[in-house]
Amino acid sequence: MEKENELLLAIESSCDETSVAVIRNGSEILSNIIASQIKSHRRFGGVVPEVASRHHVEQITLCIEEALQEANVTADELSTVAVTYGPGLVGALLIGVSAAKAFAWAHELPLIPVNHMAGHIYAARLVAPLEFPLMALLVSGGHTELVYMEEDGAYHIIGETRDDAAGEAYDKVGRVLGLSYPSGKEIDELAHQGQDTFHFPRAMMKEDNCDFSFSGLKSAFINTVHNAEQRDEQLKKEDLAASFQASVIEVLTAKTLRACQEYPVKQLIVAGGVAANKGLREALDKMVSEYLPDVQLIVPPLKLCGDNAAMIGAAAHIELKKGHVADYYLNAVPGLSFN
Ligand code: KG4
Ligand code: ZN
Repeated sequence: MEKENELLLAIESSCDETSVAVIRNGSEILSNIIASQIKSHRRFGGVVPEVASRHHVEQITLCIEEALQEANVTADELSTVAVTYGPGLVGALLIGVSAAKAFAWAHELPLIPVNHMAGHIYAARLVAPLEFPLMALLVSGGHTELVYMEEDGAYHIIGETRDDAAGEAYDKVGRVLGLSYPSGKEIDELAHQGQDTFHFPRAMMKEDNCDFSFSGLKSAFINTVHNAEQRDEQLKKEDLAASFQASVIEVLTAKTLRACQEYPVKQLIVAGGVAANKGLREALDKMVSEYLPDVQLIVPPLKLCGDNAAMIGAAAHIELKKGHVADYYLNAVPGLSFN
């Protein structure tokens, strides 16, 4: 039975954000503290796992205290503790898992293990009630997937990337342009000031499936930049960004449309760090109003698209209802998948 005032403490530490949230009844955010480590990793051009773990150790207790304080909730008032146990960096995940286990033990609370990608999907539940069946386009630094859900907690991957994730492609291309990590946001901004003049390939558009591929686009982009460098030619960063983004968006939008036409969906959820992309949000909005008038599009606000613990709390609420409680042997599972 759902408690009337379920107060859930959620912990997220799978990559480079230490985050702790307090969520009431699965959908009301009382606090969502996010300590980002981005500045420490930037000079290395990517997340350094060892550095990430050290930051999580330093931040986790502070974040728990701050989340409780901001929510105006004491540990005794909490009903549950939830934590991301995968996928992600093993050392980073272990900090959150250990902290959650210790907290659950000390306060005699049930411990809910949460899949990070389920968390990204359930960020939408913090915006609107979910209606099934639904389709989720999951686009992050490590994943690009179309997930079909007939009910809460049941995930069917109906399409996924064969190589790079969309966010990964953004970050690799950004590196070639000399942008700092992660470069998705900056490429998005540059793209809005340029034109699609290079017409990079749109991979797997003709294939009869909902899969993606971004490595060919990445290679085409890098070759274009290197060839120009050898000829001492200066290419406009804005046009390169616009051309790259046009290709990514066209493929993501076309495959998502195909998926939503193949399955009887009531809602389309867009989730993950790349869901913050302005161009993608605009294109999906247009696609849904033109071709899927009966489908409700849910795109969480920017703060809930990137990694955060509120989304983990929202997913944990469902796991708790299903009785998925972990014991103190819970371990990090870096390669955790839906299936
Ligand atoms: O979900 P997320 O915060 O972390 C993972 O779980 O991977 O996603 C991070 C990814 C990075 O690759 C970053 O470049 C990308 O999301 N990203 C964006 C934008 N903001 C963040 N990509 C495109 N456009 C954006 N505005
Ligand atoms: Zn994520």
